[in-house]
Amino acid sequence: MTILLPHLAPSALPAPLGGTLVSRLRHPGLDFDPAELAGLPRLALSDRSAADLEMLATGAYSPLTGFVGEADYLSIIERLRLADGTPWSVPITLPVSREDAARLRGRVVLTVAGQDVGWIDVQESYEARKALEAREVYRTEDEAHPGVAALYAQGDYNLAGEVALFDVPRGAFPGHHRTPAEVRTVIEARGWRSTVAFQTRNPIHRAHEYLQKVALELVDGLLLHPLVGTTKGDDVPADTRVKAYEVLLAGYYPQARTLLSVYPAAMRYAGPREAILHALSRRNYGVTHFIVGRDHAGVGSYYGTYDAQEIFSAYSTDELGVQILKFEHTFYCNSCGQLVSPRTCPHDSSHHLVLSGTKVREKLRAGEDLPAEFTRPEVAEVLRAAYTGRA
Ligand code: ADX
Repeated sequence: MTILLPHLAPSALPAPLGGTLVSRLRHPGLDFDPAELAGLPRLALSDRSAADLEMLATGAYSPLTGFVGEADYLSIIERLRLADGTPWSVPITLPVSREDAARLRGRVVLTVAGQDVGWIDVQESYEARKALEAREVYRTEDEAHPGVAALYAQGDYNLAGEVALFDVPRGAFPGHHRTPAEVRTVIEARGWRSTVAFQTRNPIHRAHEYLQKVALELVDGLLLHPLVGTTKGDDVPADTRVKAYEVLLAGYYPQARTLLSVYPAAMRYAGPREAILHALSRRNYGVTHFIVGRDHAGVGSYYGTYDAQEIFSAYSTDELGVQILKFEHTFYCNSCGQLVSPRTCPHDSSHHLVLSGTKVREKLRAGEDLPAEFTRPEVAEVLRAAYTGRA
């Protein structure tokens, strides 16, 4: 359904990073017959690599057209830029074992669950600098960090080269799964001249809603863009989070100004570096603004509360091509009777309602209510049902 805001002129979407939206999809663009791939070597993808393949092939990671080679890999790690100077913060690599790095040359068919899903034209393989990558990208070599643990668990070599994807895997959320080109089409059709994207991996709570709605006072449209790729084991599963969004949108959001769409990437928990990746890829989806709150994409206490905001000073506004809306820590204040932040509330912490994720999960497992000032009852019900196994 297309919902137009009648008073708005046609929108001017920001150019994708690098100027062109990459498409390495069978339709439209690449024309080939999967049957031609019969005799080629195969490589099974991890969940994360499969997600990266989709991000690359749909243009969500424009200007990248494939997994990065060594020059870009080192340049991203050391300079926060591709070798040609374009801003980029997290190397998008295809890790393989030493044996696979030696074995795989030329066109290699990529598989997921035994099915051919695409290919890579291997141009290069090189040894990963895992300690360097951990230190620079994750700011820690501690293997208790889930991103670092994943890095150390994967193969020691990276394959690099252009990719192709046969079909966009819209499996779990067909109604909400849109490529960057499709999101751009919706934004244009609705006539939004400015759009803010909201990245999230957690169930929506009132502070999220507050950030989104404050932003919506400033721009025409809101792209709710929950990450639905692999997350760490104790994060709330994506289907529960998406269900929570659906009930909330139905009751509390202006339909013509809101678009719920899933973001298929895996979570790296790289804090500041990942905030940049999130912002740049949302620009590729066609938004003009991106929200970065407290400890964006963080985990544990590896990052300072506002590190993910400060890191953007590495780039000029023009280079970024997307405006970062920075928010301080937001919470409910009993005395103000509303959502506030240290910028707007004069009361000390004894007046504030702050619940940690761990506390919330404890309450949900015990079947307890969450305070309505923290989570709307409709959302709490979705979460409680998921946690207590009720349908
Ligand atoms: S994240 O890993 O995707 O960043 P989460 O879903 O919790 O985790 O956060 C989504 C966005 O909302 C991030 O930009 C984060 O910084 C911001 N955010 C979450 N909770 C708050 C809060 N209470 N106050 C300010 N910003 C917040």
